[in-house]
Amino acid sequence: MTNRHPVITGLGFSVPSQVWDNSRIERMVDTSDEWIRTRTGIIARHIAETHETTATLASSAACAALKNARLRPEDIDVIIVATMTPEMGFPATACFVQESIGAKRAAAFDISAACTGFVYGLAIASSMVSSGLSSHILVIGAETLSRIIDWTDRNSCVLFGDGAGAAVVSRGGKGGRIVDSVIRSDGSNADLLYMPGGGSRYPANEETVRNRMHYLKMTGKGLYKEATTSMVDAVIAVLERNGLGVGDIDLLIPHQANLRIIRSTAKKLDIAPEKAYVNIDRYGNTSAATIPIAMAEAQAEGRLRKDSNVVLVAFGSGMTWGSTLLRY
Ligand code: ACO
Repeated sequence: MTNRHPVITGLGFSVPSQVWDNSRIERMVDTSDEWIRTRTGIIARHIAETHETTATLASSAACAALKNARLRPEDIDVIIVATMTPEMGFPATACFVQESIGAKRAAAFDISAACTGFVYGLAIASSMVSSGLSSHILVIGAETLSRIIDWTDRNSCVLFGDGAGAAVVSRGGKGGRIVDSVIRSDGSNADLLYMPGGGSRYPANEETVRNRMHYLKMTGKGLYKEATTSMVDAVIAVLERNGLGVGDIDLLIPHQANLRIIRSTAKKLDIAPEKAYVNIDRYGNTSAATIPIAMAEAQAEGRLRKDSNVVLVAFGSGMTWGSTLLRY
């Protein structure tokens, strides 16, 4: 019988070479390195230069993941890009990636689930592989948040960075088997994080530009409150569905939004803080890219060990949230 288990067979990431530490942000808004470090855990973030876009970062991450999976671009039959900062209104950023990497046989589309986009993408890819529709799928989380950040708003601008991470989801093979996913949403909280301008409700015009409607708007406290609850619920739900408990988690890879959110999620789950992967200090919040970047780094550090249970968990604008259970 054909093995149709979806497996993550390759991981890779790409970040802009330009790094802004907190002292750079101190020169832009009324903030301090001390405030940013203690309230968020962020020390530095990578910021795209003019020639770098969501599609260029996504393509570099995709190439790294393909190399890691020992596959060629022609082997890929679907490209899914999760992003809230697409290359253009349309076509999909995934189409630019398809052309750039030469994935001649691939279908290409984007998904919009903000910071939960990569977890949503894995759920879609694993269903497509399990059904027999696809053999190798690239799932990419890619963002250039620096292009939509209001650099005059100290409440939000200190938090974000640019980058992309990619995973190859294959039918069988060596790597992390995607055992199950839980994905959820609550549109009543859409106003906690959104960008109003440029869509069908507020099409771009002089007034929307004057009113700064093409920048990200955030209510930090509200998000903070929802984040921990939703991530804890998603982790417990995916474990329970598979007859596991929190004690079975070998590594938790949470969305990197704020170190305090990560620590409090681990505490509420009653797992040791060192079991929750952290790299927010070097990248900030790269939205849909935080989890695949963290996975690629965890793999390079030998932390995705054979016979281990790895849980991915994210929350984001929408609100959306979800988790993925992987067995290595
Ligand atoms: N520097 C200095 N002071 C600041 C800054 C700053 N950058 N930002 C806010 N402050 C001030 C505030 O004005 C406030 O001052 P006040 O008491 O005089 O009014 C004070 O610091 C405390 O502000 P709080 O909002 O209470 O600070 P808090 O401890 O809640 O931390 C933060 C704010 C870091 C934004 C936190 O709420 C958070 O991380 N929330 C989650 C945000 C998030 O995850 N967003 C992304 C979601 S994922 C996605 O979809 C992309």
